[in-house]
Amino acid sequence: MALAAEETGILQEAYPTKARDGLSNYANSSTHERKATVFAKELIKTAIAEKLDKEILLSSKTFCIADLGCSVGPNTVLAVQNIFEAVESKCQYYLHELNSQIPDFQVFFNDYTSNDFNLLFTSLPNDRRYYAAGVPGSFYGPLFPENSLHFVHSSYAIQWLSGVPKEVMNKNSPAWNKGKIHYSKSGDEVVLAYKAQCDKDMEQFLQARAKEIVCGGLMVLIFPGVPNGTHHSQSLPNMILELLGSCLMDLARKGIISEEKVDYFNMPTYLMSPKELEAAVERNGCFTIEGMEGLPLPLPSDSSAVASHLRAAVEGMIKLHFGEKILDELFDCYRKKIDENFSILKSGNLVNFFFLLKRRAAN
Ligand SMILES: C[S@@+](CC[C@H](N)C(=O)[O-])C[C@H]1O[C@@H](n2cnc3c(N)ncnc32)[C@H](O)[C@@H]1O
Repeated sequence: MALAAEETGILQEAYPTKARDGLSNYANSSTHERKATVFAKELIKTAIAEKLDKEILLSSKTFCIADLGCSVGPNTVLAVQNIFEAVESKCQYYLHELNSQIPDFQVFFNDYTSNDFNLLFTSLPNDRRYYAAGVPGSFYGPLFPENSLHFVHSSYAIQWLSGVPKEVMNKNSPAWNKGKIHYSKSGDEVVLAYKAQCDKDMEQFLQARAKEIVCGGLMVLIFPGVPNGTHHSQSLPNMILELLGSCLMDLARKGIISEEKVDYFNMPTYLMSPKELEAAVERNGCFTIEGMEGLPLPLPSDSSAVASHLRAAVEGMIKLHFGEKILDELFDCYRKKIDENFSILKSGNLVNFFFLLKRRAAN
């Protein structure tokens, strides 16, 4: 019998970074995301130097930054420090016009309520020169008062959908995703259901941010995606998820879990192409795209690093749906499959996109 979450398709906050121990701890296994943060530092610096209107600095007593989908660190701490330093250095440049009054800085760290904010807060540097606050809740809805943010950052988070599209878990739908946990090797109906969910989520995300970000304010979005024209099955993160799906089916064949249970488990992630994000921004109409870069990152050099990275990301969801008992056997099978397929995986497409958006002056 389907569980409530299976019926609604919404896996409430069963998102990554909930595992806390050993190798599967997000703080230890997020080096891939950290490389993107380091890579994005110069892009953020340039964005602030060239695209942040000085009027925003002159008119703000407090400069407000938000990091959406921050997790527990250390990447968010680094990203926020990069933004803070770039804005502060721009303020130094305009010190005379600011009457030597550099604004205060307020940083909002956002994630789901189940995020370990205590762990994050204890890792904030003692000598930080910004005020810090946690903001719990989904970024697919409103989180802040109107016109209250000057710079929004989100990295490796918007690939997580608000939930699994309902159709893929409905036996009577042509989009029923039987025996699979993701869309990249499924029929067109499944892919379209995921894409429609992503479009709806992005509409809500941009609508909420359009209200919250002041005119002229900036938003940086960093996400793993697929290059325009590349099939979803060619993308490395998708290939890696398909292998996890095949391990779950192996456990079902061994009778350790039921096949029906696998049928009702789907990953709520979708990798957008730049065109898809551009189309979402155009439909929303409140932002201009000021820059876009691809951040190619190398595949981690050994298979166990790939396996532990994915384990950290999805263990919480697997545990919730299948129970704790299967975890070790599942991830053991998974590590072996990654190893066997490593040369194929190396041909997979691994690209992260950096988008710089600016809030338009009116509407
Ligand atoms: C892979 S981690 C990225 C963390 C960090 N930004 C980084 O770059 O390392 C993704 C984070 O996004 C959060 N997340 C996913 N969907 C979210 C949503 N709708 N609202 C708020 N946070 C969300 C997850 O809980 C998780 O902590």
